[in-house]
Amino acid sequence: MRVSSKTLIFKKPPIVRLKGQPVLLFDKQPTLLDALEQKEVEIFSECRSGFCGSCKTKMISGSVTYVQEPLAALEEDECLPCCCVPVTDLDLELPLHQHEALAIEQ
Ligand code: FES
Repeated sequence: MRVSSKTLIFKKPPIVRLKGQPVLLFDKQPTLLDALEQKEVEIFSECRSGFCGSCKTKMISGSVTYVQEPLAALEEDECLPCCCVPVTDLDLELPLHQHEALAIEQ
């Protein structure tokens, strides 16, 4: 089989984990906060625009990019889910409730 130079490369959506447990595939949601809320993950938020810092979350592993520049101060291992999206698989230091768990084959 010949592979054309125009062959599309499909990138797998990042897996978001809570303390190691997979909870969602991030795929086209506007922000990480929106994706977590769709999965009914409990996460506190107020301004939803990167200003107040109330959604600040520690990242155990992975990286994010910001769709809107955050104004709240962040440590290197923290993110603001209200204004970022994952660029790699992501593991967050958030509590996992049993109903949020997602079975993802590795
Ligand atoms: S909700 Fe205010 S910074 Fe995320």
